[in-house]
Amino acid sequence: MDLVKKLQTERDLSDAEFLALLSTDEYDETLRIAADEERRKVYGDEVFLRGLIEFTNYCKNNCYYCGIRAGNPDADRYRLTKEEILECCKEGYALGYHTFVLQGGEDPYYTDEIICDLVRSIKELFPDVAVTLSIGEKEKSSYAKYKEAGADRYLLRHETASEDHYSFLHPSNLSLSHRKQCLYDLKDLGFQVGAGFMVGSPGQELKHILADIRFLQKLQPDMIGIGPFIPHKDTPFKDEKQGSLELTLRILSIIRLCFPYVLLPSTTALGTIAVNGRELGLQHGANVVMPNLSPVEFRKQYSLYDGKICTGEESAQCKDCLSLRVKSAGYRIVNDRGDVKR
Ligand code: 5AD
Ligand code: FES
Repeated sequence: MDLVKKLQTERDLSDAEFLALLSTDEYDETLRIAADEERRKVYGDEVFLRGLIEFTNYCKNNCYYCGIRAGNPDADRYRLTKEEILECCKEGYALGYHTFVLQGGEDPYYTDEIICDLVRSIKELFPDVAVTLSIGEKEKSSYAKYKEAGADRYLLRHETASEDHYSFLHPSNLSLSHRKQCLYDLKDLGFQVGAGFMVGSPGQELKHILADIRFLQKLQPDMIGIGPFIPHKDTPFKDEKQGSLELTLRILSIIRLCFPYVLLPSTTALGTIAVNGRELGLQHGANVVMPNLSPVEFRKQYSLYDGKICTGEESAQCKDCLSLRVKSAGYRIVNDRGDVKR
């Protein structure tokens, strides 16, 4: 049986077979077709929206790839007030969004009390939306409070599942074991969990991607965020090359075949390295898009990597632009919470 057929029916391969798939463009078109077939079996032509609110670009960490790292004195920092955040939600709700993702750097200004108050307020105003948090590594007791306040989902990319590569991308105060512990804690508390990694990050080899797949098979997350690495001018990785479009699309298709049910975003980073990147992502197995809902005046400041798209458009324009893109790719936006279909 050929490799793609085997992956499609068994949802798994041996290490050697995964490495063979990853290392050549030979299977790309069959992979894409199989991935699209599997996504349509579970989700039809539906694409879910996640309204992304980037509410702070302060961060206490210093990840070598990230533009909002604490060690970047040139980052122009901002924090949104509760009122500003709720305003974004109102705008998003009017546009039909039923999921809000509150994403930020690891910013101690937002205490557990503040986060819980935000979550409760959003849930009170919009009882039928899902609230997703993406605010980094916390104590399990903090995650428990967020859950208690009504948060439904949590996004925390593992970034890489290999110890050697993790310490190449991060300073020594950050550890892969703690990162993983956070993800298991979140699962244990009943969050719908998203993990994921960058494609083509400095030092990444195919064996690391294989380890990422193996880790995801263990974790069984509801969502998997995968986008290309893109250098940022104020980081130690400023001269590194960006991740490739082809490899990112290949990995999206492989991930769809391993996890037919999973929520798989076609990321802004993918749309940044190619004009039709997000359309291609959808055609390679992705079924989620995350339009930006942050206030336009702050968008440029949430600069994780250079050249990030969607920083000048009003939220309504982003929605219209994405609707057209989703349609032209052959899919349809649905305005519901977009829960995972297991
Ligand atoms: N290029 C691409 N993605 C990046 N991220 C952070 N920095 C970069 C970069 N330079 C991703 C990380 C993080 C997510 C919010 O953004 O994977 O988890
Ligand atoms: Fe903020 Fe890495 S620089 S989490």
